[in-house]
Amino acid sequence: MSRAPSVVVVTGASSGIGLETVALLRARGDHVVLASRSPEALRAAVAGTTPTGPTPDGTVPGRVLVVPTDVGDRDAVEALFAAARAELGRVDAVVHAAAVLAYGRFDDVPADVYDRALQTTLIGTANVARCALAEFGPRERGSLVVVGSLLGKIATPLMSSYVTAKWGVHGLVRCLQLEARSTPGIEVSLVSPGGVDTPIYHLAGTYVGRHGKPPPPVVPAAKVARAVVRCLDHPRRDVNADLGPANAVTVLGFRAMPAVFDLLVGPLLRWTGFGAAAPEPTPGNVTGPRPLLEASSGGFGSVPLDLPEPVRRAVPAGLPRAATAVVLGAGVTSAAVRWATRRVSAGR
Ligand SMILES: NC(=O)c1ccc[n+]([C@@H]2O[C@H](COP(=O)([O-])OP(=O)(O)OC[C@H]3O[C@@H](n4cnc5c(N)ncnc54)[C@H](OP(=O)(O)O)[C@@H]3O)[C@@H](O)[C@H]2O)c1
Repeated sequence: MSRAPSVVVVTGASSGIGLETVALLRARGDHVVLASRSPEALRAAVAGTTPTGPTPDGTVPGRVLVVPTDVGDRDAVEALFAAARAELGRVDAVVHAAAVLAYGRFDDVPADVYDRALQTTLIGTANVARCALAEFGPRERGSLVVVGSLLGKIATPLMSSYVTAKWGVHGLVRCLQLEARSTPGIEVSLVSPGGVDTPIYHLAGTYVGRHGKPPPPVVPAAKVARAVVRCLDHPRRDVNADLGPANAVTVLGFRAMPAVFDLLVGPLLRWTGFGAAAPEPTPGNVTGPRPLLEASSGGFGSVPLDLPEPVRRAVPAGLPRAATAVVLGAGVTSAAVRWATRRVSAGR
């Protein structure tokens, strides 16, 4: 029996994970409402995701509706849902993927840029969730999927606007999940990726003299989009491990070995999380869209968590490389901490 098409609102629909999610939903015949700030990028998103072949089961292609929206603006988000209801009759599901980030020490990021980043990434989530639940309530049905982040579970230096917002997003989603226990039929899911190959790193503001890039392992946006769409059909509390074991290991390190984590996270981020020079500080897309840089991929490719060549050759064939990397990393880390601690005490 064929599945009835759903009406799905997608925020952050013009780039990266949101754009790939739109492509998957349209390919299966759903009606999709695309929201982000740039009308130009949204038009390109519609053109780039129009299904070319027949939909599964030969169903009629779904309708699309484009509603330029700033998720940080509560009135605009209410207007988005009103437009979806007026044009398509109802909203069955919502995918919230809009977010921005500004690299820099807390005291180097201008206050208005910092606040705008929180307005989009945290308050935007509250605005979208409030409207989604108001839509779902009367019909006692609906599925909200929020894209969080590994950085909603750990901390790093130089990304405090994003880390603060994502911790807030994760807290909000967990509260909504608890409250949804009393409203069967209404589901709230969280997807928490680590590094994903999207343009967010080119679009981000930066006050560190360099542009960001995704630290390995890096997965394609389409993989995260598939996890998002699976959550629409089969809600999950938190999709994390499915996107790679490294995320779970990193969270374990943050919680179980905070001293080791604190020692390593700054140098590792500077080593693996920054690329090209950014001579001028810029707010990037925090203060306004940059449609020409929006796309489904950031051009970073998939980057596995791999070992240096000499170590790789020494690892017996068949041993999972990620596990080996973790064990080796833990060994090197413990030695480093013991060494660093001895130096501190010897200096006293
Ligand atoms: N890429 C990663 O490595 C990674 C890792 C973990 C989690 N995530 C999360 O995944 C989600 C999607 O990120 P992505 O990497 O796909 O980012 P992206 O390629 O930069 O896409 C972000 C989308 O959000 C929209 N947006 C930004 N500010 C907005 C606002 N105020 N109102 C409405 N829309 C806005 C952008 O369009 P406009 O600028 O035109 O509005 C764009 O469509 C985010 O929640 C991000 O935090 C990403």
